[in-house]
Amino acid sequence: MKRHSHFYPLAALVLLHHLMMTGCTAMKRLSLGTDQSALLALKAHITSGQQEFLSKNWSSAAAASSVCDWIGVQCGSRHQRVTALNISNMGLTGTIPPDLGNLSFLVSLDLRNNSFHGNLLEELSHLRRLRFIRFSKNNFTGEIPMWFVGQIPLSLCKFSHLQVLDLSNNRFSGHIPKEIGNLEKLKELYLSTNNLTGTIPREIGNLQSLQRLNLEWNQIAGSIPKEIGNLTMLTELYFANNSLTGTIPPEMGNLYQLENLQLSYNGLIGSIPHGIFNLSALRNIGLQSNLLSGSLPPDLGYRLPKLLFIDLAWNNLGGVIPVSITNCSRSRILNFARNRFTDLGPNPLNGLLPASIGNLSASLGILILETSGIKGTIPSQTGNLTNLVLLDLQSNHLTGGIPTAFKDLQNLQGLTVGDNNLNDTLDKLCSLHSLNSVDLTTNQFSGSIPECFGNMTSLRELELGNNFLVSAIPNSFWKLKDLLELNLSSNSLNASLPLEVGNLKAITSIDVSANQFSGDIPRTTGDLQNLVILNLSQNQFHGSIPDFGSVYKGILNDGRSIAVKVFNLELEGVLKSFDVECKVLKNLRHRNLVKVISGCWNQDFRALGLEYMCNGSLEKWLYSDNYFLDTLQRLNILIDVASAVQYLHEEYSTPVIHCDLKPSNVLLDEDMVAHVSDFGIAKMLEKEESFAWTRTLATIGYIAPEYGSEGLISAKCDIYSYGIMLMEVFSRRKPNDEMFAGNLNLKSWINNSLPDSILRVLSSILELALKCVCESPSERVSMKVTLETLKKIKLKFLRVMEVDS
Ligand SMILES: *[C@@H]1O[C@H](CO)[C@@H](O)[C@H](O)[C@H]1NC(C)=O
Ligand SMILES: *[C@@H]1O[C@H](CO)[C@@H](O)[C@H](O)[C@H]1NC(C)=O
Ligand SMILES: *[C@@H]1O[C@H](CO)[C@@H](O)[C@H](O)[C@H]1NC(C)=O
Ligand SMILES: *[C@@H]1O[C@H](CO)[C@@H](O)[C@H](O)[C@H]1NC(C)=O
Ligand SMILES: *[C@@H]1O[C@H](CO)[C@@H](O)[C@H](O)[C@H]1NC(C)=O
Ligand SMILES: *[C@@H]1O[C@H](CO)[C@@H](O)[C@H](O)[C@H]1NC(C)=O
Ligand SMILES: *[C@@H]1O[C@H](CO)[C@@H](O)[C@H](O)[C@H]1NC(C)=O
Ligand SMILES: *[C@@H]1O[C@H](CO)[C@@H](O)[C@H](O)[C@H]1NC(C)=O
Ligand SMILES: *[C@@H]1O[C@H](CO)[C@@H](O)[C@H](O)[C@H]1NC(C)=O
Ligand SMILES: *[C@@H]1O[C@H](CO)[C@@H](O)[C@H](O)[C@H]1NC(C)=O
Ligand SMILES: *[C@@H]1O[C@H](CO)[C@@H](O)[C@H](O)[C@H]1NC(C)=O
Ligand SMILES: *[C@@H]1O[C@H](CO)[C@@H](O)[C@H](O)[C@H]1NC(C)=O
Repeated sequence: MKRHSHFYPLAALVLLHHLMMTGCTAMKRLSLGTDQSALLALKAHITSGQQEFLSKNWSSAAAASSVCDWIGVQCGSRHQRVTALNISNMGLTGTIPPDLGNLSFLVSLDLRNNSFHGNLLEELSHLRRLRFIRFSKNNFTGEIPMWFVGQIPLSLCKFSHLQVLDLSNNRFSGHIPKEIGNLEKLKELYLSTNNLTGTIPREIGNLQSLQRLNLEWNQIAGSIPKEIGNLTMLTELYFANNSLTGTIPPEMGNLYQLENLQLSYNGLIGSIPHGIFNLSALRNIGLQSNLLSGSLPPDLGYRLPKLLFIDLAWNNLGGVIPVSITNCSRSRILNFARNRFTDLGPNPLNGLLPASIGNLSASLGILILETSGIKGTIPSQTGNLTNLVLLDLQSNHLTGGIPTAFKDLQNLQGLTVGDNNLNDTLDKLCSLHSLNSVDLTTNQFSGSIPECFGNMTSLRELELGNNFLVSAIPNSFWKLKDLLELNLSSNSLNASLPLEVGNLKAITSIDVSANQFSGDIPRTTGDLQNLVILNLSQNQFHGSIPDFGSVYKGILNDGRSIAVKVFNLELEGVLKSFDVECKVLKNLRHRNLVKVISGCWNQDFRALGLEYMCNGSLEKWLYSDNYFLDTLQRLNILIDVASAVQYLHEEYSTPVIHCDLKPSNVLLDEDMVAHVSDFGIAKMLEKEESFAWTRTLATIGYIAPEYGSEGLISAKCDIYSYGIMLMEVFSRRKPNDEMFAGNLNLKSWINNSLPDSILRVLSSILELALKCVCESPSERVSMKVTLETLKKIKLKFLRVMEVDS
């Protein structure tokens, strides 16, 4: 025993000395020349970005040039070795070569905001002088390396000087290594917006110098370790948007210097520890969207007077909203929405919006109390909040009117008071020129819509539904050319809608249902390019219905164009057709089928958002004077259609019969690739079923005889329609063309015209077409054969063209 206790420390010392000589001290042999080759190696690993600029500047060619003069490089004045490398914001793509580990005097390495990728190589662990590592906003992957700290024998090489470690906004995965606790000088640790999993290691509590800690936007789970309470230098703690569970440790009450606390979007439970309300330096507190319960201390506003940003929304907090909050006179954002605050309790003032809210006049920009149980009237002092931009009091028990003092809310852009019991006239809003979004739905607002609304040029959304508004919509209203959404449903508005509705060029949704409008439906609604929703039901409109069955163009938020197919529910069978189309299209995936991007329906209204086809229908290309398709284009389109139909018949899990193939249902995208659309009367055959009966009628001229006479549908019906279309595409004659009255139909016309008048290639197409339109379904070719034949015809055609030219 004794022998060992002497021997062990001695052996350890020898080992450490050896390691120092071979490992850490090896760097001493390196020189400025080494630094230059390290930087040149880095340059060689940069594949794009401003590498040209670097290749000119980072060059050993100029004899007098020293790396110390290179862009982004700084050297120590004494030893002339590279101490700082800053190539941030240069749009560089590339990897970090192992050679970078030779910059042994490096103190600061800043690569922020480029596209460097790959793993962090172990060689970087040689940079033991590093104090600042800033790799944010790149594309690094792999785990956060443990070599920052190493194992015990190598501890002399650890990053004992590291003060800032910023790996945020990359694609790091795996756990946060517990060895991170060895970085005892660390002041700032940023790991946010990565793909980190696992838990927060307790060892983080060793980082006694830590001032800023940001782990937001990862998938870190488990509970917050109580050791976090050791980090008494912390001023910023960001854990939002992870999967943290458990309670907030009471030890966090020790973080007396904390200014910013962000724990929103996690799964934290229990009550907010009362120590948190002792952190008098707190400026921002975000606890939104957790499962926190319990109540807030009544004197919250006195204990945390510096609060600027308070977000406690979407929890299970109970009790009353502390009125003392109005003491936080610098607060800019107050969000208490969606909790279980109650208006009950011994104090009759509970649940009232306090008059002292006017104290926040200097700062408050956003006040959100939706669904928070408040009652009583809106105090006139609310009008003192002249910096207010958003006021959301939706879904409460508010009564009375809009205070006259509201006229001073000149910065107000969003006013949301829907679902209360407010009664007033709308002229109170006339002086609010900044209004952008107004929601007054489901209240008792009365009177008419004032002319002044036409002057609110910033207005984008106006929701006035379910009130007692009367008389006509003022003419000025139609000047709102940037209005996006208009809901006037369930009021008593009357008169007719003027043609000027067509001035609302940007509008995507108009709902005027359940009013007393009369007169014609303005045909200009058909010109509204962005319209997705038009609800006119229950009024007394008369005259002809504009073409609502048509397809509108829409633009999604992400800028993609879509075609919006709106179904007119007054036409019988539309509901069914919508549901069929939705069901069929949702599951189909083929290059030559139109994709559904979104579906939209409610009781009165159905719309489908489809992939937008900017070249319109094949029908247009065949019959409009300004459009022309050459033979190859026609062949390609027909091959596209045949591919889609073959997929429907033979490659999808249950065979789908389109039942309405015709040129107007074939749409062309910007590359003239054809996509089959309109599945409104499509039929899915059960497994083992090869035909079915239907009573829905397809388009005369294209329907197979057995379908027309007996309602019998099978894949052969589509083949018949396809054959007709084949003839039509090459003859430019519609099957129901007037010249085909009597006994002459398109089929016999083609038949009779063969073979003299048509080229050889065309005749093989028409031969194929005739095989598709045989009277007896059993004699018709399959779609597979049709497709193969067409592809051969195309090859033949291309060869003929080559020979000719
Ligand atoms: C690189 O750019 C720096 C700063 O613009 C300049 O001082 C230096 O002379 C340049 N070096 C070379 C080799 O072009
Ligand atoms: C690196 O340069 C950028 C400017 O491109 C500067 O904002 C940043 O502070 C510099 N980094 C360091 C660590 O000095
Ligand atoms: C990131 O770098 C690009 C150049 O690649 C620059 O345009 C952009 O402003 C930088 N972003 C920030 C936040 O500095
Ligand atoms: C620098 O680093 C690379 C790779 O780690 C290595 O191959 C090279 O020998 C090192 N030394 C010098 C003097 O370049
Ligand atoms: C990161 O990599 C992904 C996938 O390789 C790529 O799509 C993305 O554009 C890259 N981002 C940056 C900032 O380089
Ligand atoms: C994040 O990690 C998960 C598995 O942990 C993986 O499925 C996912 O693709 C990763 N996401 C990114 C953006 O790297
Ligand atoms: C949380 O982060 C994920 C990515 O990890 C992101 O998709 C999501 O939008 C974020 N949620 C919130 C509420 O910020
Ligand atoms: C760190 O926190 C834990 C738990 O709160 C405590 O037991 C421990 O003594 C603290 N360590 C230091 C060094 O303060
Ligand atoms: C909060 O501070 C008060 C007064 O400084 C003190 O009495 C109380 O114990 C503290 N509460 C907690 C939970 O730390
Ligand atoms: C609110 O404004 C009114 C004038 O509209 C003023 O008399 C009152 O003192 C103000 N109250 C507060 C708390 O600022
Ligand atoms: C609102 O209701 C109150 C009480 O019922 C009534 O005195 C007031 O006249 C109403 N205001 C309007 C504009 O209808
Ligand atoms: C609308 O604005 C115009 C010009 O700014 C003004 O003359 C008119 O009185 C305003 N109308 C209403 C109803 O506020």
